[in-house]
Amino acid sequence: MTQRQEAVRPDAGDGIVPRLPTERTCPFDPPEELRRLRAEAPVRRMRFPTGDLGWLLTGYDEVRALLADPRVSSRRTRASHPVRELPPEAEEIVRVQPGHFIAQDAPDHTRYRRLLTGHFTVRRVRALTGRIEEIVDDHLTAMAAGTPPVDLMQAFALPLPSLVICETLGVPYAERQMFQRRAAALISTTDDVTVIRRSQREMLEYMSDLLRAKRAEPGDDLLSGLVTRSDAEGPLTDEELVNIANLLLVAGHETTANMIAMGVLTLLRHPGQLAALCDDPDLTDRAVEELLRYVTIPQHGVVRTATGDIEIGGKRILAGETIVASLPAANRDPARFADPDTLDVSRQSPAHLSFGHGVHQCLGQQLARVEMRVAFRALLQRFPTLRLAVPFEQLRMRTDSFVLGIHELPVAWDTAA
Ligand code: HEM
Repeated sequence: MTQRQEAVRPDAGDGIVPRLPTERTCPFDPPEELRRLRAEAPVRRMRFPTGDLGWLLTGYDEVRALLADPRVSSRRTRASHPVRELPPEAEEIVRVQPGHFIAQDAPDHTRYRRLLTGHFTVRRVRALTGRIEEIVDDHLTAMAAGTPPVDLMQAFALPLPSLVICETLGVPYAERQMFQRRAAALISTTDDVTVIRRSQREMLEYMSDLLRAKRAEPGDDLLSGLVTRSDAEGPLTDEELVNIANLLLVAGHETTANMIAMGVLTLLRHPGQLAALCDDPDLTDRAVEELLRYVTIPQHGVVRTATGDIEIGGKRILAGETIVASLPAANRDPARFADPDTLDVSRQSPAHLSFGHGVHQCLGQQLARVEMRVAFRALLQRFPTLRLAVPFEQLRMRTDSFVLGIHELPVAWDTAA
């Protein structure tokens, strides 16, 4: 903290700086404490679990305004997310890498983003719909041929986005177990340096080999396009390419997989809503948006650093201060959403913030949407009697991850016999 900030903020100020709440009492609801904090002050000083002081934003309008503000940076002065303290060696490993544009600002961020945007437009994704339907159909057919109970995560929710992102990038799906394990380690909140370091190194080695092969023999995929492109800006370095590929691979499947599984679980816990959706599959697009809002899997929100003083919600955030924008709290803000804690698949939702907002808004959101729409529609059509195969209390939630999720989702259904 600078001298100026210390003068303005005598540390804990009034001595009542609350801690950033992270504990959920119910897997679908944001921590209870966030509701109270939002009602009291949607922008407030906060002590993070790491012990550092910063700001927590919990109101919809405030989060949106912050993420659209040019005076915020996605670069980290420290690699740690405020919910976890990393040992110094790990800080070094996860510090911003060239090409890892989710943690970069303009002009670097703009350059990478421009290279990739065309691959994820509504039009491009629409062209993939047929293939997504095929993948969904294949997996549901295999599931129906088996005997319940089945783990929906492994049988359906995980393979769908994994296959789609692998095919888009040109990464062999057969090697998925290797990168899925590593991706899970990279987005976990573990502070085990050995695990982080090993995951990072193995992922980089794997990608470097793959890019070498693509350079020698380019295919018709996104990574081949990137390694062979030549334009005025000059070629990307290997380090940039590897980090771009890793970012897309990690961001592209863990998120959607957990959202599909958590979405199905949410519906199974709300039988009235599930019945409404089964009766009227045309509600699927709305239901997907409502599930994204209601569940909000980026459970710890997004982090920014102020690069200038920012006035927001009547408070003054100073340059250099860390801000956590809580997407789960913003998505349940009663000032924006009527009856926010109720799941309503027919809700005509004003835009939720589950994909973020502003220049870093999710690059893959159209892809994720189409995957979810196709997945929910087909799953409910093929398995109208789908139900949990174990008591809800036995499910193992993923609380140790930046992405809210579930380890397994055992489901059953009535078979013809
Ligand atoms: C960024 C959520 C699926 C690729 C983001 C951000 C959020 C998010 C909240 C903003 C991060 C920030 O502002 O710091 C989600 C959710 C998904 C999903 C909830 C699924 C339900 C995907 C998919 C891809 C993807 C399928 C595949 C390409 C990315 C990338 C960024 C990003 C590359 C960084 C964008 C940038 O910094 O400009 N995502 N995502 N995401 N997402 Fe997603």
